[in-house]
Amino acid sequence: MKRILVTGGAGFIGSAFVRYLLREYPEVHVVVLDKLTYAGNLDNLREADPARHTFIRGDIADAAAVREAMHGCDAVVNFAAETHVDRSILGAADFLRTNVEGVYNILEAAKEQGTARVLLVSTDEVYGSIEQGSFKETDPLNPRNPYSAAKAGGELIGRSYFTTFGVPVIITRGSNTYGPYQYPEKVLPLFVTNAIDGEPLPLYKGGEHNVRDWLYVDDHCRGIDVALREGAPGEIYNIAGGNERENIALTRRILALTGRDESLIRLVADRPGHDRRYSIDAGKIRALGWKPLMDWDEGIVQTVRWYQDNEWWWRKIKSGEFRQYYERQYGNR
Ligand code: NAD
Ligand code: DAU
Repeated sequence: MKRILVTGGAGFIGSAFVRYLLREYPEVHVVVLDKLTYAGNLDNLREADPARHTFIRGDIADAAAVREAMHGCDAVVNFAAETHVDRSILGAADFLRTNVEGVYNILEAAKEQGTARVLLVSTDEVYGSIEQGSFKETDPLNPRNPYSAAKAGGELIGRSYFTTFGVPVIITRGSNTYGPYQYPEKVLPLFVTNAIDGEPLPLYKGGEHNVRDWLYVDDHCRGIDVALREGAPGEIYNIAGGNERENIALTRRILALTGRDESLIRLVADRPGHDRRYSIDAGKIRALGWKPLMDWDEGIVQTVRWYQDNEWWWRKIKSGEFRQYYERQYGNR
């Protein structure tokens, strides 16, 4: 692969994937197509060699923009999405537009142009919640919020383009991802940056013992790359961190690492339809040679330190559009 289109490459995981590709494959040129929504940020690409990537500002819901960006690319990896569950509860229109219609445009362009690989980055949330054990790729989909329902919709269109037209679609379903450059609406960077400032941590009441499985961002990127290169078209691969933690345990760890105490915890009204536990079995991608390399204890220490050392990155964000969102989301909670 010489030229790879990364849609959503200015977001959290997409930008890490661009850095990963440039680091691992000296012959690759990366094209980034990103709308730069509130979550997209060119600061995230500051470490990516400008000579080896081309940035295009554009919307995957715009078929012409997608077609043009995809010209001459051997592969497309789609990260572009509306990604925050709480925002999907406040309003889901953009989620359907980007996560379903946008994916359809990528598939149409790939069908027209005969693109050799189409990787759709999806999420473990499409399975819904599980009390015991872990979901396998063959388990039924049961998304329970507008975000995950829209992601499942994008996946299903993708699978239909494989079976109907032979478009070489591969799907990955990753677990909760953490690391540098994550937009501070997500629980981990939100709680770390609030704790740094001595602000309350709004923990959803009733969800203190809900469980998420934490995956370091570079491990997620390597898993996507393994699926892209070694995976079979038409197949789905779970990518799990193997670090299941209750939200309260995560919160306490963040408080300890930032030198704060539990008086900062503020129990607020729960998220409607709050999924209790996510857990996926990564045996299928492990059989292709992937495994997570980052140990949780080290990953959380490094990540907290990154936010402590890079206030320039998140302070700009938290003083912009974010403030209005925060007020709307937490003001009366
Ligand atoms: P993010 O919100 O940080 O970034 C999303 C990026 O997509 C932004 O750069 C944004 O500008 C861009 N974008 C949004 N709508 C667009 C559109 N219509 N056209 C072009 N660009 C658009 O997201 P993230 O957390 O990096 O997630 C990336 C992908 O990984 C998503 O598909 C998400 O569903 C999936 N995923 C995320 C996690 C996680 O824990 N963060 C876990 C599993 C899967
Ligand atoms: O599992 C993969 C998914 O992980 C991705 O597909 C999503 O894009 C990503 O946003 C993430 O979804 P979650 O809903 O699990 O992540 P979030 O950070 O929003 O919440 C994690 C847990 O923390 C969840 O149980 C809700 C809780 N929470 C979250 C926020 C924002 C709180 O208690 N308080 C909060 O303020």
